[in-house]
Amino acid sequence: MQSKQDRLVEEYVRSHSRSQQLHEQAVRLFPADGATHAARVLNPFRPYITHAKGSRKWDVDGNEYIDYVMGHGTLILGHSHPAVVEALEKQVAKGILYGDNHELEIEWASLIQQMMPVAERIEFCTAGQEANMMAIWLSRIFTGRRKVLRFDENFHGWGEELVRKDLPGVLAENVDVIPFNNLEAVQEALATREYAILMTEGGGAHMAGQVPISDELLYALPDLTKTYGTVWLIDEVVTGFRDAPGGWQSLKGVKPDLTTIGKCVGGGLPVGAVLGRADIMEALSPTAPAEKRISHSGTWNANAPVAAAGVAACRVYLDGAPHEAARTQGNYFRQKANEAFKARGIKGRLYGRTILHLYFGPIDFEPEDVSMAPTHDVRKITDPTFGPVRDRLVLHLLQRGVDLLTAIGSAYFVMASVHTKADIDKTMETFVAALDAMLAEGSIPDALLGG
Ligand SMILES: Cc1ncc(COP(=O)(O)O)c(C=O)c1O
Repeated sequence: MQSKQDRLVEEYVRSHSRSQQLHEQAVRLFPADGATHAARVLNPFRPYITHAKGSRKWDVDGNEYIDYVMGHGTLILGHSHPAVVEALEKQVAKGILYGDNHELEIEWASLIQQMMPVAERIEFCTAGQEANMMAIWLSRIFTGRRKVLRFDENFHGWGEELVRKDLPGVLAENVDVIPFNNLEAVQEALATREYAILMTEGGGAHMAGQVPISDELLYALPDLTKTYGTVWLIDEVVTGFRDAPGGWQSLKGVKPDLTTIGKCVGGGLPVGAVLGRADIMEALSPTAPAEKRISHSGTWNANAPVAAAGVAACRVYLDGAPHEAARTQGNYFRQKANEAFKARGIKGRLYGRTILHLYFGPIDFEPEDVSMAPTHDVRKITDPTFGPVRDRLVLHLLQRGVDLLTAIGSAYFVMASVHTKADIDKTMETFVAALDAMLAEGSIPDALLGG
């Protein structure tokens, strides 16, 4: 069995020889096993990409991939959408960084406001996590409280008060992290009236809800946070302009005090923004009293090329057609992949809307809601036991020309409007071939068979 498994690695190394050379150079430069992002790591190594277009990308060895990484979830319109490319080309010829106000930022913010009514005011920055840091600061000024309440497994960026508290070197004295989907725990914490902000991730934890948020918890939060005077934030860095023009909150019919966005709103360029209530965001006004004022600098805030790309992308988002297309192909793929799992008796499933989460583990039920996992148990979803099975499938798919987004403990198919039915059919052929190869080589353990 071992030698057959190794044959996959041998084939991969053989067909990615230039990538291997580059990886060997990279490990001497970049400490994360040669990668520049924790999710760009793979054993033995990931391909080095030369170019991308639409639903495809190509590597230095000439391999072509159907891409489901989609810029870490950013590219709902696919790679190099013509409207974004045209806007960028025009803008860079006119100047890159004015260090001054310009009209595009107003058009961009107006488009955002039109799609996300939560945005009474908008503050741009450079990344999603910066927006979350700003949201924390705004909530502290507004409430006069220091403490941050967060949920286990929810991700908001790598910065000090945003990461897991138990990581080495992290000092987050003012942050409390409570179990996810536990209404009692949140009620009890909020009732102390100590918290400036409660942070929740759009869709649930890990990229739009690998661990979905329960409706019971979600619909309790508006009243609870209001009652106890805590600012409620939905972090829509992944879900904003991905699930729908109005974000995940528009699908669920909820309106938080603050929302953070990033990724899709920049059309592929780096951005973050806080959207929300004018009274909370008043702290950014130069006329706010000194003891309640935030002075927000940021060299790249709303710089012209990002704004140009953002405007171009947001115009395309307005009618919701890209989201509908991504969702439709996502539905088709999820259904086909789950049929393939079931036909082989494999306890594996895909679930989600425009980001499909890959799950291996006990199937407690077959969910009717496409965004729900086949179990309510957070421990089963995050259990590392079957991580090697998932990683093996990822490598089989990559070797056959299908590239997934991976992060520690997770793998996702990120859908874009440019994925066609033909792309999905080709992906399914690959998916089935990969599963059959795994069954043949014995890399699916008995615990995942007979389901
Ligand atoms: C839900 C969520 N919030 C915040 C962030 C951080 O965004 P950025 O990488 O732009 O700082 C991410 C990144 O993936 C995310 O998934």
